[in-house]
Amino acid sequence: MPELHLPVLLGEVVSGLQPPAPGLLVDATIGLGGHAQALLATYPDCSLLGLDRDPQALDHTRLRLEAFADRTTLVCSPFARMPEVLAATGSPSPVAVLADLGCSSLQLDSPDRGFSFSADGPLDMRMGTSGSSAADLVNTAEPEALMRILWDYGEERRARAIVRALVRRRETKPIETTAELSHLVQGVLGRRPGSKIHPATRTFQALRIAVNDELGQLEAFLEPAVRALAPAGKIGVISFHSLEDRIVKHTLRRLEGRTPMPPGPPASEHVAPALVRVLTRRPIRPSDEEVENNPRARSARLRIAERLGDSG
Ligand SMILES: C[S@@+](CC[C@H](N)C(=O)[O-])C[C@H]1O[C@@H](n2cnc3c(N)ncnc32)[C@H](O)[C@@H]1O
Repeated sequence: MPELHLPVLLGEVVSGLQPPAPGLLVDATIGLGGHAQALLATYPDCSLLGLDRDPQALDHTRLRLEAFADRTTLVCSPFARMPEVLAATGSPSPVAVLADLGCSSLQLDSPDRGFSFSADGPLDMRMGTSGSSAADLVNTAEPEALMRILWDYGEERRARAIVRALVRRRETKPIETTAELSHLVQGVLGRRPGSKIHPATRTFQALRIAVNDELGQLEAFLEPAVRALAPAGKIGVISFHSLEDRIVKHTLRRLEGRTPMPPGPPASEHVAPALVRVLTRRPIRPSDEEVENNPRARSARLRIAERLGDSG
């Protein structure tokens, strides 16, 4: 087993997603199986479908959940394809769906996966095995596109200066490792004395989001996941930065029918029936004690909604 990934907001997830009846639980980001294990143990009449796009994570989780093998199905898939996976596995409408976004410790702490600016490894950052790596992106993308990525996904104000240095470097030699990239960024931004935050943090976050199309996945996942739920079923999403949380908050509000109507007489296509009731007016945040035990939990926000009657 790799160093254990501590599941975030575990008690809050397990109680908040209490299913209305025995049935299927979907963990759309099963990772190393911490949340899944607690859900299976707490709800013995439920079965669980676990998805992850990372085959390495599924190998670990299969072992971890051995005791629940008769109630568990694991599928390697991006979660945006959850409806297809439900259909292909002949699954019923889920009574609860969980998405715990972002990366697992297995990914962040393995230098060979290329997510870490503090340990050297190939500049990869793919959660799955397909698609372009971060090295492909930094060595081939147009400067303008790289600038947008750093600005939009990393809120990196010095995006222009970093991209200028990147382009200059790649003209002589491609950037292939995490250490090369983090040194390059540090060379541009310098390091504030006493700052605990590495200057490459925002650049690495931005590239990771782009490489894995994290926001596109989330947008494609949410509404179909809500529609797939059984009546009174629940969906819970844990996000780790404001870009993700904004998508979750706005999508659930829209599905709750709380999006302001455009001015003028109501047009029939605007009057969509509410699909959910949001159960968390404000997101649930980890306690100080949890953050102390698990600093990675510090930015977590959990939002939960309940599916209304079968109007979808
Ligand atoms: C924070 S970890 C989940 C940890 C898990 N809840 C646990 O208790 O061990 C997030 C996991 O989601 C997976 N993941 C992220 N985005 C995904 C996507 N779009 N489709 C499928 N899996 C995804 C990652 O590969 C990672 O294993």
